[in-house]
Amino acid sequence: MLALELAVVSKYFGERAALSRVSLGLKPGSALGLLGPNGAGKTTALRLILGHTEPSEGSVKLQGGDPVRSESRRGVGYLPERLVLPAHRSVRSFLRLHGGLAGLRGSELDQAVAAVAEQTGISGRLADRLGTLSKGLTQRVGFAQAFIGRPRVLLLDEPSSGLDPMGMRDARDWIVQAKESGCSVLVSSHLLSEVERICDSVAILDEGHVVAAGSMAEIVRPDEELEDAFVRLVSSHTPSFPEILDGG
Ligand SMILES: Nc1ncnc2c1ncn2[C@@H]1O[C@H](COP(=O)(O)OP(=O)(O)OP(=O)(O)O)[C@@H](O)[C@H]1O
Ligand SMILES: [Mg+2]
Repeated sequence: MLALELAVVSKYFGERAALSRVSLGLKPGSALGLLGPNGAGKTTALRLILGHTEPSEGSVKLQGGDPVRSESRRGVGYLPERLVLPAHRSVRSFLRLHGGLAGLRGSELDQAVAAVAEQTGISGRLADRLGTLSKGLTQRVGFAQAFIGRPRVLLLDEPSSGLDPMGMRDARDWIVQAKESGCSVLVSSHLLSEVERICDSVAILDEGHVVAAGSMAEIVRPDEELEDAFVRLVSSHTPSFPEILDGG
């Protein structure tokens, strides 16, 4: 069973298609990089996978089930693109809340909070209010909440956002460790060197279409970096807006 699957999925917002006939699958224990220019549809794909929005056409499966069912979302960690955190809550109470949602109770919950705080380097900030944290620390809290339920599936939307170089390296290590412990990972990112180090395969979206998908070796030619392949594949994709071609 695939960890998640999109089968010929389209998503319309009004007349405009954010995704057009997209098919993707994530093999268990592997990491897939979801790439594409701004507005390509990456966040929309992640939101569909989480059941936050429903496809206009096609089907989405998470752990074999419909993502809108809570059983399908059990064991899924999610780091959203924009973290909106309750400013007055402490880091500790926020992590306890997420651990509770993941089914942890009592001493197990206490231990999980301590463990993810240690892992993400925020142990010294557990008493701080979320509204007082810097951007990078906020992102670390985002990772901690995604990791707290020991997820089997991780969905990460631009995980390096706001992190300094040390933070980016840490984040990469956490993601690789999660994968090595058997977690299936879908990561959307603009940082192609990071994707190259973390992911086994990539899917490149442009204007809602999958313009390329496959293993790193299938996508990147021997004389290229992933960045070169990305530019080649996206620039050879024909834009869908005739006015761009007409210059009007
Ligand atoms: N709730 C919404 N209502 C209307 N349009 C939307 C909505 N969500 C996304 N879109 C549109 O869908 C398209 C894809 O957006 P999406 O956020 O998925 O792109 P993205 O690949 O994540 O981009 P970025 O790299 O900038 O994060 C865009 O044209 C966006 O304006
Ligand atoms: Mg996005």
